[in-house]
Amino acid sequence: MKIKTIVVTGGLGFIGSNLINLLLKRNYKVINIDRVSYSSNFYNVKHLKNNNKYKFYKADINNKKKIIKILFKEKPIAAFNLAADTHVDRSIDSPYPFIKNNILGVFNLLEASMNYYKKNKKFRLIHISTDEVYGDILKNRSSESYPYKPSSPYAASKASSDHLVYSYYKTYNLPIIVTNCSNNYGPKQHPEKLIPKMIYNIINNKDLPVYGNGTNSREWIFVEDHCKALITILKKGKTGEFYNIGSNENLNNLKICKKLLKIGKKIIKENRSKIKFVKDRPGHDIRYALNSNKIKKELKWKKDTDFNTGLVNTFNWYLNNLEYFKSFKKKDITSRLGNK
Ligand SMILES: NC(=O)c1ccc[n+]([C@@H]2O[C@H](COP(=O)([O-])OP(=O)(O)OC[C@H]3O[C@@H](n4cnc5c(N)ncnc54)[C@H](O)[C@@H]3O)[C@@H](O)[C@H]2O)c1
Repeated sequence: MKIKTIVVTGGLGFIGSNLINLLLKRNYKVINIDRVSYSSNFYNVKHLKNNNKYKFYKADINNKKKIIKILFKEKPIAAFNLAADTHVDRSIDSPYPFIKNNILGVFNLLEASMNYYKKNKKFRLIHISTDEVYGDILKNRSSESYPYKPSSPYAASKASSDHLVYSYYKTYNLPIIVTNCSNNYGPKQHPEKLIPKMIYNIINNKDLPVYGNGTNSREWIFVEDHCKALITILKKGKTGEFYNIGSNENLNNLKICKKLLKIGKKIIKENRSKIKFVKDRPGHDIRYALNSNKIKKELKWKKDTDFNTGLVNTFNWYLNNLEYFKSFKKKDITSRLGNK
């Protein structure tokens, strides 16, 4: 059987690099397109150097001409779009890159996809989005029909791109699917994000800075479970549909930090890290929570990893990959952002 080729944009980042691993394990050929930004990390794909089913292109999704050229050369049956600026705090300090990469970038990727789709009718674009587009969900859980009400420039840029993607389906019949996933955790995440940042601090005997009173609640999914859901969607998802992807497990930031401290103190003797409350993020949503019944019922996907197991595995991965932290500028890990 001929090996199918899949494009992953943003494949040097956290979820993209985990998705590439899983696609390769499932015997796809993978083309990674990434512009190589501060959040990219070649450490995430270093083991793929001699893998002839993997190819990397340094390219920006804003560069429509280059993306068209890659698509026609590599002939993928689908593209997963994970290229985005992703840190809410950075979007508060400086929103423009979020408009450029997450909205204009997606517009250019859609234009390139249209161009390629006209000659390759089997192609589909799967656009990866977030639960943050629904805004604060103080009670119950948001299903796919819940209205969008994003709170941060990051979430608003993702919401805009989701609308653009859907408009290309309705107006031009481009086969697309949009996925909205909850907070991911696991190996290879940039240490500006909560869980790897706290693990870094514990390993380095520093305090854990918790925003506000620590009660902001998120739904946490192990990154591999998210990637498995994406491959299920590639195989069985319906064109023109939105799918929520969540674990149904909500935890607040304080609880997560306490769990990490407990794991850390077991592994690292004489650890002195403790919780330290710091000024809250402006516009900080209280709670996100997804209703993921659609993907469970219609596509028969379910998560495999419960939070406690996933968190221990994640801690151990960072501990066994201390080189990973060295590949970042120290200020990108330690400096406080989003504090306007
Ligand atoms: N991390 C999460 O918890 C989470 C949850 C739900 C959805 N998402 C979405 O999943 C996607 C991936 O998130 P992540 O956490 O892996 O992000 P990340 O920041 O780790 O990686 C993003 C990658 O995209 C690349 N990129 C950015 N702009 C680009 C452009 N214009 N052209 C080409 N490449 C570009 C970056 O260089 C980087 O390598 C994003 O779309 C994000 O919104 C993330």
